[in-house]
Amino acid sequence: MKILEEVLEWIRRHRPARIAVLTGAGVSADSGIPTFRGGDGLWKQHRVEQLATPEAFSRNPGLVWEWYEWRRDRVRLASPNAAHLAIAELQRHPKLDVTLITQNVDDLHRRAGSREILELHGNLFRVRCSLEGHVRQAEEAFSELPPACPCGALLRPDVVWFGEPLPARTLEHAAEAASACDLLLLAGTSGVVYPAAGLVSFVRRGVVVEINPSRTPLTDQSAWWLEASASAVLPVIVDGIRSAAS
Ligand code: OAD
Repeated sequence: MKILEEVLEWIRRHRPARIAVLTGAGVSADSGIPTFRGGDGLWKQHRVEQLATPEAFSRNPGLVWEWYEWRRDRVRLASPNAAHLAIAELQRHPKLDVTLITQNVDDLHRRAGSREILELHGNLFRVRCSLEGHVRQAEEAFSELPPACPCGALLRPDVVWFGEPLPARTLEHAAEAASACDLLLLAGTSGVVYPAAGLVSFVRRGVVVEINPSRTPLTDQSAWWLEASASAVLPVIVDGIRSAAS
């Protein structure tokens, strides 16, 4: 692929050391996790306002939890793919400063070995007390839905729902990383959900490389668009960055 060669050539010449990676649902597509807006995407089959808003949870917490348990089951059966593994490997390079920013809640980056992850939209395997706000890990399926906190209030998934703010410090770190990077890898996101999509605008001197089989509203802000699957292309790019750095 000619464009991939161009990107690799740029990497050889410029040896980017500060790298930001922003991922979306497309990165987990090759692990068998449905995206949100693809052909059989989650938002094609379900209505956001019935499942992923605070109002939906107040109205029918049982229904919301059934959907989240279904998603948690599905993700538990999936494995990280070559894209997740490549990013984790990049983060382990001693000479590189790599910030992983994800919109995904599926925990596959952590399971691939990434340790520092800016999770903009939360994580399916954490729950939060809807009254007191305490957060804890919750890997196992709940025996009763909706689950309750020992204080008696309902537990909710520790994810960001529509109409809710993103975690402020996490978003701030993500913006700092975008602003300071030499290279932003933008992988598997439709680029339509803000403020995540707006992070691209923070890039100052860095170069944006988009990896996505489809064009997005962010394609025009990218120096290169690699029209390919993240699991095919990210390992090649990561190899290129690691070789240039060593
Ligand atoms: P989307 O479902 O909106 O977009 C997925 C993107 O991945 C699309 O642009 C696809 O073309 C692309 N894609 C599909 N397969 C791919 C592959 N193998 N490799 C690379 N790219 C591929 O998912 P997001 O952009 O992540 O928010 O959606 C953003 C947010 O909207 C989500 O975090 C979620 C959702 O509503 C919340 O739940 C708050």
